[in-house]
Amino acid sequence: MNPSPTPHSAAPRTPAGRWSDSLFMRACRREPVERTPVWLMRQAGRYLPEYRAVRGRVGFMELCKTPSLAAEVMLATVDRLGVDAAIIFSDLLPILEPMGMDLEFAAGEGPVIHNPVREAADVARVHELSSLDSLSYVFDCVRATRAGLDDSLPVIGFAGAPFTLAGYCIEGGTSKSWLHTKSLMYRSPSAWHDLMDRLARAVSAYLVAQLDAGAQVVQVFDSWVGCLCPDDYRRYVLPHSRLAMAAAAARAPVIHFATGNPALLPLLAEAGGTVIGVDWRIGLDEAWKAIGHDRAIQGNLDPAVLLGNRDTVRQRTLDVLAAAGGRPGHIFNLGHGVHPQTPVENVLELIAAVKG
Ligand code: CP3
Repeated sequence: MNPSPTPHSAAPRTPAGRWSDSLFMRACRREPVERTPVWLMRQAGRYLPEYRAVRGRVGFMELCKTPSLAAEVMLATVDRLGVDAAIIFSDLLPILEPMGMDLEFAAGEGPVIHNPVREAADVARVHELSSLDSLSYVFDCVRATRAGLDDSLPVIGFAGAPFTLAGYCIEGGTSKSWLHTKSLMYRSPSAWHDLMDRLARAVSAYLVAQLDAGAQVVQVFDSWVGCLCPDDYRRYVLPHSRLAMAAAAARAPVIHFATGNPALLPLLAEAGGTVIGVDWRIGLDEAWKAIGHDRAIQGNLDPAVLLGNRDTVRQRTLDVLAAAGGRPGHIFNLGHGVHPQTPVENVLELIAAVKG
């Protein structure tokens, strides 16, 4: 693991890279820290009035494709919250556009893919991601975020894991049951593996390009893989997730995150990840035992707790810290993204509680 990846020639950087001694990077390496580092998934989102004001002027995809503005949204959020890392402002799904998916973020509906893959034969129209050129706005966003951020804080790049991306390609949007996805997986395993392999290679190149552009760490989101049982995860997903993460993991810490199914934790760790992201459906102490104490862990407060009162937020935050038991290698986060209806003061209370 190399916490200071090769500098990209175009990126303005501090030679020493003070971020490599940050609480966050030390926690990734399971070194002892003075206090637990904290950031939140969807920390720049609709719960923030400043974000809603930007979105009143600019559509979501347009925001993602305007690197200076996307970086500004995240940098202002990091300042406002006082968190210990900046994730780039982007989304899981833009990588699918150059692969042939017709993506739209329709107002109030979330993502829609107008040409979903439903049959084995449809897999042929998912292109190999042979060039990253059309995603240059993402790498420009990494550069702009790195250039604007205090050099004591790391920038987190990210991508969707192959299963979660395949789920969107096949369903054409979010789903509760992921039945079209499972149906293709069980009916046409060879087409499934073909699609997963194409996605895994695309994700691998995409993560490495984010490191080249100046990110210090990357997170892989397998947000919906919890709908699978462990045997199916091993058979249909694990080799692809491993391939997607391997090249980035050779250079920088990788956070491997999934939700919904604690029974998958040992297999997620087997697939890879310097840090394993866990949700609230299992105690942090129990999760860490299942993963193994040779890995760092990220999590795991239920984001719904932030809809309660401030005393509850503080108490439940301290409970998560207590479950981590002061072991080195804990990054505080929610178990999933901040809900849009969350009061900002509760987010600030959580961060203050972690900082003690
Ligand atoms: O603050 C951050 O964490 C950085 C930015 C970020 C966004 N999406 C911005 C966003 C990150 C890291 C993501 C990842 C993402 N995108 C995931 C993985 C995290 C998770 O929740 O599991 C997923 C599944 C997506 C796909 C996605 N994007 C959905 C399902 C939706 C619609 C639902 C929703 O929350 O609106 C989005 C839209 C989206 N991505 C928004 C933001 C701020 C809201 C769009 C808006 O402004 O209207």
